[in-house]
Order: sequence, then C-alpha cells, then structure tokens
Amino acid sequence: MIKVGIVGGTGYTGVELLRLLACHPHVSVEAITSRSEAGTAVSELYPNLRGHYDELTFSDPDAERLSHCDAVFFATPHGVAHALAGELLDKGTRVIDLSADFRLRDSDEWAHWYGQPHGAPELLGEAIYGLPEVSRERIRQARLIAVPGCYPTAVQLGLLPLLEAGVIDTERVIADCKSGVTGAGRGAKVPSLLAEASESMKAYGASGHRHLPEIRQGLSDAAGVPVGLTFVPHLTPMIRGIHATLYARLIADPGDLQALFERRFAGEPFVDVMPPGSHPETRSVKGANVCRLAIHRPGDGDTVVVLSVIDNLVKGASGQAVHNLNLMFGLDEQAGLEAPAIMP
Ligand SMILES: NC(=O)c1ccc[n+]([C@@H]2O[C@H](COP(=O)([O-])OP(=O)(O)OC[C@H]3O[C@@H](n4cnc5c(N)ncnc54)[C@H](OP(=O)(O)O)[C@@H]3O)[C@@H](O)[C@H]2O)c1
Repeated sequence: MIKVGIVGGTGYTGVELLRLLACHPHVSVEAITSRSEAGTAVSELYPNLRGHYDELTFSDPDAERLSHCDAVFFATPHGVAHALAGELLDKGTRVIDLSADFRLRDSDEWAHWYGQPHGAPELLGEAIYGLPEVSRERIRQARLIAVPGCYPTAVQLGLLPLLEAGVIDTERVIADCKSGVTGAGRGAKVPSLLAEASESMKAYGASGHRHLPEIRQGLSDAAGVPVGLTFVPHLTPMIRGIHATLYARLIADPGDLQALFERRFAGEPFVDVMPPGSHPETRSVKGANVCRLAIHRPGDGDTVVVLSVIDNLVKGASGQAVHNLNLMFGLDEQAGLEAPAIMP
C-alpha cells in the first residue's frame, strides 16, 4: 500500500480526497491534519466516512510524522505548502499540492497575484504542473506536483486542441466561467451564506482573478505564443460544479472540429468529448473525475464555442490530485476514480 498524508483534512478538497481514497485499492491514509479539529475523529466530523476511517483522527501538522508517508497532499490555503514541502522532499516524501503555491513558474508573478513573497522559489524548477492530459510523462517522474486550479482545468482542456492546432486567434480568447460555492472553501464567509448566494448570480474578479496568470501560462505553452485571455468567473447558486463557456475566433480552416477534439483526447480516461450539438450539464460530472466537452460553431461562422464542465472538487482538485498520485506511483491511472457521476 502507498502511505499518504493529507494536510488540511477538514476543508472541502481534503474531505473529497478522503472520499475518493476510501475506495482506492492501493492507498492507505496514515495522517490527516487540522489545527482546529486536532483530536476529533474523522468519522465524527464527516459521518459519510463512517466505516472507512474509524481509526483516523485529525492531528496538528507535524513534518516528522508526515515524512513517514510516501506522499503528502496539501489541501491548504496558499503559503502552507511553501513552508513544509522542502522538508518533506528532503526526507524522501513526495508532495502533491492542491493550492496555487507551485503553479506559476515565475515567483515574481506569484508574489504579485498572491500579495506576499513566494515562500519556496528554489523548488519551482522541479515542480510539475499536474495536468495529465498535457504532462503525463513528466508527472510519472515528479517529486513535487502543482495540481491545476479548478477554473484553469476546465478552460485549458476546452481550448488545448484549438491552440495546439493553431486554428484560432490567440490574441483574443474569452473564458466566461461559472462556479458553485464550494470553490471558495469551507471557511465561513458572508458571500457563501445561503441567503447571499442562493437565487442570485454574480461575476467577480472581472478585472483580474488569481487564476488568470495560471490559465494564460498553460494556454501560451500550448500555443507557443502568448495568449490574450479575458477570463470572467461567476458565483452561481450550486454546491459543486464549474461551467466554462469558451469563445475563440477561427483564423484557419480547422477541418472537422468535432474530429479535432476527439483525436486530441482519444484514450484520455477523464475527458469526454460529447456528440455534436451537446450541451453538457454540471450535474453530469458531479462527484466524478471527468471533464465533459462539447464544441459548437454557431451559424458555421468564424466563432467557435466550447462548453466545458467539471466538478470543481474532483477533476478540478482532489480527483486530479489522485490521478497524479496514480501516475507518480505507477498505478492504474483510474484507480479510485472509476465512480460515475451522481444524477439527479
Ligand atoms: N474548493 C475548491 O473547489 C478548490 C479547487 C481547486 C483547488 N483548491 C485549492 O485547494 C486548497 C484547499 O481548498 P479548500 O476549498 O479545501 O479549502 P478549505 O475548505 O478552506 O480548507 C482548508 C484546510 O486547510 C487547513 N489549514 C488552513 N490554514 C492552514 C495552515 N496555516 N496550516 C495548516 N493547515 C491549514 C484547514 O484546517 P485547519 O485550519 O483546522 O488547520 C482546512 O482543513 C486551496 O489552496 C484552494 O485554492 C480548491
């Protein structure tokens, strides 16, 4: 069994890791941290996990204890993995970070967007951006993974085939995205209250959101040139889910767009290119590690519209993190990730 630890086990991505790993045939969770719930049994806080982790109790983060694991997931706010990852790597423990700490290659850009100096710039050289559909072979060799953000996953998967084929205008790409409220984490915040978030919808970060530089970095890598992206996220009254509507202008004959996407993602276990004319729903990916895509070309004009849906907590975070773990340890890629979505 691969022994893993989770730092930040009481948050939404932490408990989603626990849910997924409960059915993983080759992983045992040895340590799980929470400063506020140290001493509480996992099954007491999360009764859905009763019968799976009956011996497991939250504890304070302790690098020495965590270093006995083969791999440690960080399901924590930014800055926490900066402080602990180096010590764990030195002791031979691999690190899979769900936060933004190692996603941007440029530490100055990270400091600009996160409002504090980068805490571990010396590790950036070896951090691998864990989008398996792009970096599968590098992930297999990695010691330190930066799991992509939720919006960045939905947007990049929807645009990669077009950028790699060089058929769209790279100067003006638009990502109009909607997220459920778990995207903001479990901490109590007024905008997440039922009376604030339900029966309403609003944009936020329209002038610049922290995921913008991350998405631009990935899209520019795919295109080979800088990509001009307008990214506007919205908060919607659902618990889980991201819906990205992506707009781009065709500048070259793409041939059969549907076939382009089907070819690009052929053999990818976690990307589903839906039949022509489809409109994927967020509920069709709820709880599942899958991105569903549909491609449209309204009126056969020069605008291509891609619809991309994921569960922010699964393909947008914890499921993708487990996929990375499977690759790093030479396991079946789909281990622990085979459950279909929950409908209705
Ligand atoms: N929610 C999503 O949809 C989503 C998607 C993709 C990526 N992410 C990223 O994943 C990370 C976790 O997100 P989340 O939504 O699960 O957050 P969350 O619900 O707010 O949970 C944060 C967890 O981190 C722990 N924590 C907070 N400060 C800590 C510190 N200084 N040292 C150690 N532990 C600390 C908390 O427990 P204690 O305070 O009790 O220690 C809690 O268990 C974030 O970086 C987020 O940006 C989230």
